Amino acid sequence: MFGFRKLALLAVILFNLTSARSLPLQRKNDPPQSPGQYIVTLRDGLDESAIEQHLQRATSLRARSESPVVELGRRWNIGSWNAYLCTMDNNTLTQMSRDDAVQFIEPDGGLGAISHRVPNHTDYVYDSKAGEGTYAYIIDSGLLTTHEEFEGRASLGYNAVDGEFVDDSGHGTHVAGTIGGKTYGVAKKTNLISVKIFQNGQGKISDFLEGYQWAVYNITKENRQEVSVINVSGGSGAMEALNRAVDEGYKQGVLTVVAAGNFDQDVRRHSPASAPNAMTVGAIGGDFSRSSFSNWGELVDIFAPGEDVMSAWIGSNDDAQAHAGTSMATPHITGLVLYLKSLIPYRMKSPANSVRELQNLATGNVIQDTKGSKNLLGFNGNGIVIV
Ligand SMILES: *[C@@H]1O[C@H](CO)[C@@H](O)[C@H](O)[C@H]1NC(C)=O
Ligand SMILES: *[C@@H]1O[C@H](CO)[C@@H](O)[C@H](O)[C@H]1NC(C)=O
Ligand SMILES: *[C@@H]1O[C@H](CO)[C@@H](O)[C@H](O)[C@H]1NC(C)=O
Ligand SMILES: *[C@@H]1O[C@H](CO)[C@@H](O)[C@H](O)[C@H]1NC(C)=O
Repeated sequence: MFGFRKLALLAVILFNLTSARSLPLQRKNDPPQSPGQYIVTLRDGLDESAIEQHLQRATSLRARSESPVVELGRRWNIGSWNAYLCTMDNNTLTQMSRDDAVQFIEPDGGLGAISHRVPNHTDYVYDSKAGEGTYAYIIDSGLLTTHEEFEGRASLGYNAVDGEFVDDSGHGTHVAGTIGGKTYGVAKKTNLISVKIFQNGQGKISDFLEGYQWAVYNITKENRQEVSVINVSGGSGAMEALNRAVDEGYKQGVLTVVAAGNFDQDVRRHSPASAPNAMTVGAIGGDFSRSSFSNWGELVDIFAPGEDVMSAWIGSNDDAQAHAGTSMATPHITGLVLYLKSLIPYRMKSPANSVRELQNLATGNVIQDTKGSKNLLGFNGNGIVIV
């Protein structure tokens, strides 16, 4: 039996997602356009040689004599999802989209900028297992690993951006503190691994894909699927490549918990929050109402506190601040999953098991104004007997 009591929470943040979408076709006599960066997703089930042949066609493609050379960038593969970053002009893009091997092409755009608000406090009663032996992969702005909250359990995993591997905004450290800080954390003994994709409060979709792929590989190669969760707190407008990546991670046995986003919109309009197999988290305030900023809709799987959430901050090794946002709600759920993975591992092996168990333990029908979201409050195991 364990008690899990949340006395109060506070704070808010967010990530803004920008959406860039349509790909207007160019007409013959349009002036040459400067090249843009795109994420090209290939058709499912292509074999290695078909992919190689496509890449060769792509590099030799030049729609018009004044078109710049096509430049291939990072390549990604998770499960049956194959994609790569490509720099080309709009005319070449039009040609490229006709290639048989191409499923779709989406612009590489911005991921969440981050903003903050005000403070308060948090208190939990927790089981002594507290996520021991589990791993949280935190795809964010970095992590102040020396912060006292982390007691040496935090490490730097992978840096997908140019520049130093430090938390330059505080967001990643805050999220990590909520997942696994000794004072503010839900899973107080979990291992925290930073994957940096935000720099100066901004990130690119391609950096997310790079960091996400690293996390999935690291989890599967280390054979940690049953004891790990990937925490994503950023997003973009609806984007197929992001949703595909997360769904393929799920098929590899990796659970991804994603913030619903802070736009008071149907979460369908955002990725990877709209990935069918992501665990998508909305935010509530102290009165159990959906936070006015929280995205909603049937793809929101669960809610957690997302206002005035106090956690670690980067000013010093004992700094703390309160913030609000679905970014603040998400790590409660990530921490809860890790906590349960340490407590009842035999019921939490696969992502599907984990989601089911969490939803079974959640409190139903206590949240106001869910706008079609699942009416489940995740953060409440208080008094539940688990055998
Ligand atoms: C090329 O397409 C992109 C994406 O739609 C668009 O934003 C951009 O304006 C176009 N480039 C030019 C130079 O027309
Ligand atoms: C902290 O919470 C208390 C009680 O909920 C509230 O009265 C107070 O205004 C909050 N403080 C801040 C700084 O938000
Ligand atoms: C996983 O990541 C850690 C760093 O967090 C690294 O030390 C380890 O070598 C990686 N494992 C594999 C199999 O790549
Ligand atoms: C993951 O991190 C983001 C921001 O860093 C945070 O907003 C989100 O709540 C976290 N989600 C999980 C699953 O921890």
